[in-house]
Amino acid sequence: MIKSLMIGFIFLSGSLFASESVYSSSVKDIFTSPDGKRSEGRLLPTSEVKILEKKDGKVKVEIEGFMKDGVSSAVYFTTGKRILTAGLSKKAKFDIRTISTSKDKDGVEWSKVVLTAYTTDDNLTKDLSSLYKSAEAMYKDNCSICHPAHPNNEYTSNQWPSMIKSMSNRTAMTKEDVYLVTQFLQKHSKDIGEK
Ligand code: HEC
Repeated sequence: MIKSLMIGFIFLSGSLFASESVYSSSVKDIFTSPDGKRSEGRLLPTSEVKILEKKDGKVKVEIEGFMKDGVSSAVYFTTGKRILTAGLSKKAKFDIRTISTSKDKDGVEWSKVVLTAYTTDDNLTKDLSSLYKSAEAMYKDNCSICHPAHPNNEYTSNQWPSMIKSMSNRTAMTKEDVYLVTQFLQKHSKDIGEK
């Protein structure tokens, strides 16, 4: 019943056009070349990507995000928060362009980057609000069985992941569901509060 929600987000590739922004509706493997077979990184659900090219079921995309000084394997949604946009394998040599750098309140340097990658053209949607609605329904279905679902703005984006981690094994959620719900809660948390 919960998994069936995800099926609604497998969009037809025909609806994608070059140079438009779309959002991943699942965890997606990313590659440094169009013919890459072994995963070189993973894009997290609800992450925005810009499509540059589309060919043979693959898309070349740009992923904008923030990288923390000294951490080469993670692209984050924003500075100073543990909201992951993409995880990169240590050996993969992605084309990463730095746009600007800044320091957070703890003096840690962050770079705003644009990473170029390839991925399959499935599980990408223009409709972020429907994706969030599906994630919210999944959260409420699974996390209000024993206690009322905790409001998304009760915790900060850095607090939610450990809460979900400690609770998700009490539910029937798959790993994939957990990734989506975690992103939803982090991006609607006390300190982020996306609409
Ligand atoms: C099988 C019952 C059950 C389910 C399902 C469940 N919880 Fe809980 N939850 C509890 C209990 C019992 C507590 C009280 C503290 C404890 O036992 O850890 C709790 C406490 C919490 C707290 C408060 C923790 C604190 O430190 O005050 C949060 C937040 C929470 N749950 C979130 C969730 C989320 C998110 C989910 C879904 C992924 C979920 N729960 C699913 C039983 C459940």
